[in-house]
Amino acid sequence: MEWKRKDLIGLEYLSKEEIEVILQVADSFKDVSTRSVKKVPALRGKTVVNLFFEPSTRTRTSFELAAKRLSADVLGFDVSSSSVSKGETIVDTAKNIEAMKVDCFIVRHSISGAPEIISKNVSSSVINAGDGCHEHPTQALLDLFTVKEKFGKIEGIKISIIGDILHSRVARSNIWGFKKLGAEVIVCGPPPLIPKDIEKTGVEVTYDIEKAIEKADIIYLLRLQRERQKENFLPSLKEYSFLYGIDEKRYEKIKSKAFLMHPGPMNRGIEIKSEVANQDKSLILNQVTNGIAVRMAVLYLVIGRKI
Ligand code: CP
Repeated sequence: MEWKRKDLIGLEYLSKEEIEVILQVADSFKDVSTRSVKKVPALRGKTVVNLFFEPSTRTRTSFELAAKRLSADVLGFDVSSSSVSKGETIVDTAKNIEAMKVDCFIVRHSISGAPEIISKNVSSSVINAGDGCHEHPTQALLDLFTVKEKFGKIEGIKISIIGDILHSRVARSNIWGFKKLGAEVIVCGPPPLIPKDIEKTGVEVTYDIEKAIEKADIIYLLRLQRERQKENFLPSLKEYSFLYGIDEKRYEKIKSKAFLMHPGPMNRGIEIKSEVANQDKSLILNQVTNGIAVRMAVLYLVIGRKI
């Protein structure tokens, strides 16, 4: 298969085959990070720019490490000390950096659609590292990779995504990805935090966490994205935690061969009790580890545009 896409904006726009190719390429890159010399020359001479307009720990460092392990040069753009603070637009910012001959922008922005707008105005590749409530495609790809690594397949897997679905770009990308690859997706959370008409995407909705946990192979917890909530959706965090958090009692109800996942950052004590976050059934750090291989694959495909 010839990889034709210059950009990765969302899993909504990828075919099942394209997602599978990314996962296969990621698999071939996974062992690079376990070697004593963690580097391959695949993107030598290429330049990747991290353009993060929102905070990040995992995605930003993971993209930087992925690019470096492919031998690309990485520019970490500091938005707070840039001319963005003087009113320069994101498109002008990207076009000016592109004029210095770079190959790829990794873009995170609080506005849905910002990476797509940049992609339409530059000839370099653009990878969406999370835009508003829209998509976070590489998070969903690393989640798919992690589930496939554990179960050997995605088709037929039952995943329950629990929490603030309404404001979650991770949930949206995961719904696209898991549905396209044949998983059964259940979404669960307080009614005000479940988008209207979400059933049209083919997911099942429940407001009952016990039901969501009962049969799931993957319990995927989300953080309450309070920075994106424009009104008060919940009476209190204590009540949310009581109704939708995973504590020791709920952890015990998870099937013996099922796993807990979370994209991070976790709010310990709210959606997950600290005591269960690091237990045997948790794949949370596996997800972070797999982020490197998946992002290496995405960078390799969009910049190299070959397979
Ligand atoms: N999962 C995720 O996007 O984490 P960061 O915000 O730390 O990048």
